[in-house]
Amino acid sequence: MKDKQLVVSAIKNGTVIDHVPATALFNVVTILKLDKLETMVTFGNNLGSKKLGKKGIIKLSEVFFKDDDINKIALVAPSAKLNIIRNYEVVEKKVVEVPDEIIGIVKCVNPKCITNNQPVTTRFSVVSKKEIKLRCHYCEKITNSENIEII
Ligand code: CTP
Ligand code: ZN
Repeated sequence: MKDKQLVVSAIKNGTVIDHVPATALFNVVTILKLDKLETMVTFGNNLGSKKLGKKGIIKLSEVFFKDDDINKIALVAPSAKLNIIRNYEVVEKKVVEVPDEIIGIVKCVNPKCITNNQPVTTRFSVVSKKEIKLRCHYCEKITNSENIEII
């Protein structure tokens, strides 16, 4: 390591989710259910970033996700980069990719949708990945990046 100190300490083994937009940090926590973890978790938010202005970072000791799980965060943090750490070294870097289908996680924008009135899990097909557009499987209304709400 250079003579600069890390703002949030290095971890020995696990996953570092870096370059998370500051405004999306807590949505990432919800999507990945990080509040349920019992292993060591450290967060930093509103850290300086040349690319994002302000960024968030999440360090998870001894946690390694399946790609399917990690890709869910692309809905709120498409810029996120994952770093897999083994014995203090970054052994792999991964980018996130918006999945083709989203089950749960997102609330349908239509107040009359069955998913907002009955205990039915939401389900969307992703019709646009760059500017997020999700079509509800039940009511066909489009939920987009402006009105997306994480549940
Ligand atoms: N990191 C960590 N623990 C380690 C090694 C790295 O927490 N044992 C973190 C670093 O703090 C950094 C991220 O993992 O946030 C990626 O590390 P590295 O690739 O060394 O940093 P950069 O070169 O800045 O990577 P990038 O430009 O891809 O963000
Ligand atoms: Zn709907």
